[in-house]
Amino acid sequence: MFARMRRMRLKENMRQLVREVRLDLRDFIYPLFVIEGEKIKNEISSMPDIYQMSLDHILQECENLINLNIYHIMLFGIPSHKDAIGSSALSPDGIIAKSIRAIKQKFPEMIISADLCFCEYTDHGHCGILDEKLQTIDNDATLEILGQQAVILANSGADMIAPSAMMDGMVLSIRTHLDRAGFSHIPIMSYSTKFASSYYGPFRDVANSTPSFGHRKSYQQDYANRREAILESLQDEAQGADILMVKPALAYLDIVRDIRERSLLPLAVYNVSGEYAMLKYAGSANLINYESTMIETLTSFKRAGADIIISYHTKELAKLIKNNRI
Ligand code: PBG
Ligand code: ZN
Repeated sequence: MFARMRRMRLKENMRQLVREVRLDLRDFIYPLFVIEGEKIKNEISSMPDIYQMSLDHILQECENLINLNIYHIMLFGIPSHKDAIGSSALSPDGIIAKSIRAIKQKFPEMIISADLCFCEYTDHGHCGILDEKLQTIDNDATLEILGQQAVILANSGADMIAPSAMMDGMVLSIRTHLDRAGFSHIPIMSYSTKFASSYYGPFRDVANSTPSFGHRKSYQQDYANRREAILESLQDEAQGADILMVKPALAYLDIVRDIRERSLLPLAVYNVSGEYAMLKYAGSANLINYESTMIETLTSFKRAGADIIISYHTKELAKLIKNNRI
């Protein structure tokens, strides 16, 4: 009688029958980086197989994604003009707004989440407007422009707004702006628990968003704090977030579980650039089997309690599924 689980592990089909979580492409969101210009497709060495693409290539890529059954994307913008207040994020003809309109026109079935932040648009690379005296972010001034940016993105057709700036009161402010502008139906997926992490390094290369001075620790969270991490997500829930998120994913699965047990909202994880790059480089050095390690990693997010996975691996996963490899 003590061999109960062992008996069930004997045959592959039986193992499948008692499997607790599975990878389903419908739970995945694939990030894309749009750069201003034409006919541009730059691979960034820190993130193999991830490209900065101009809109023409992005549209081509959307077609590829749909052929792979990927219908959820998250857009990041790389504008050519940066200034202290990130003004190109506030223009209806800014890179993201323009791209969303073009994608939606060609592929209305594509569900687009728009990352909402200022670090890609500011010359100093911080996530909001600076308080010159304190040389840190002016939280409340940033709230106002985040609200404006959200309305611009919703206006251009974004299906979901994903604020990642980590300002206090961010979700409430964005919700209020969206509702006032007639977008009460547009959900907010908040980067509700976002740690100050070294795992974002490769992303900052791709998005050209490394801060020119200082760091983001004043507005991103200390990875040593579990209670604070839970509290941050619960506060965003109270402010009206529709989906919560933990970011990064892999080093924070305990927090994913903690939040899963305290909230009934859908929960996303962001499997960030550094996590992706580590697998890529370890795979290409033949230290690990890339595909099976990737699947093991993605499965661990589901097991920890995530409903939604934002991952640069999404396309590779889709190819494996398409070829019946998993
Ligand atoms: C911008 C933002 C970052 C990421 C997503 N949105 C970078 C940061 O906070 O420095 C990181 C994503 C990744 O590493 O893949 N606020
Ligand atoms: Zn930012």
